[in-house]
Amino acid sequence: MPTLLVIESSPRGEHSMSRGLTKLFVENWLENHPGGRVVERDLMESNLPFVTMPWLGAYFTPPEQQTPEMKDILRLSDELVSEILEADHIAIGTPVYNYNVPAVLKAYIDHIVRKGKTLGFSGEGLVHGKACTILMASGGVYTQGSPIQDRDIATNYLRLILKAIGIVDVKVVAGGNAKSVDMGQVTRDKFLQTFASEVAAAARN
Ligand SMILES: Cc1cc2nc3c(=O)[nH]c(=O)nc-3n(C[C@H](O)[C@H](O)[C@H](O)COP(=O)(O)O)c2cc1C
Repeated sequence: MPTLLVIESSPRGEHSMSRGLTKLFVENWLENHPGGRVVERDLMESNLPFVTMPWLGAYFTPPEQQTPEMKDILRLSDELVSEILEADHIAIGTPVYNYNVPAVLKAYIDHIVRKGKTLGFSGEGLVHGKACTILMASGGVYTQGSPIQDRDIATNYLRLILKAIGIVDVKVVAGGNAKSVDMGQVTRDKFLQTFASEVAAAARN
């Protein structure tokens, strides 16, 4: 049975547009993969630490030489890497903050790009055969034709880092103009429905 890993990074709970898109994605994916397993990794509840000196010390010590303390420091990172390696499809729900991904998602990336596990020692990606769908919400619109397309850092960054670890089958659902909901111009449901066919197409994989 295929496994879908869902990564959530918005702090806005039921008001979040990206969480609304991932919910829609999961519903569609389960319809296409009856009996499929869904694993949720909510970064708002994962207490992810930033990279510290002790963390780096553990990371750069060969596993057979790591002390129990070092193994302990790397435990969460190991768990996050295992979740990726066990998944067939990875759905990433993310807001755009200051043109990029929120800090918690960047912290997550710092934990899952691991030499010897997801990244080879010659810099080659080690994560093969996975699909990834990015479900992004942004106040502005950064898709092709937009006068501010050059500010689409978040999409480009995610594609780049996913490619670095070997994930090349990446689809992006760009939920632009989410501010129209916050400004009361359109309902949240109506906004999410705008992306329903794009989400459904991505969930066929
Ligand atoms: C701190 C902060 C920074 C933001 N920066 C941007 C930005 O640079 N570009 C943009 O289009 N929207 C920006 N927004 C708007 C969010 O992307 C938008 O509210 C989106 O719906 C957030 O995703 P969520 O609903 O899943 O939480 C920002 C919002 C916040 C709170």
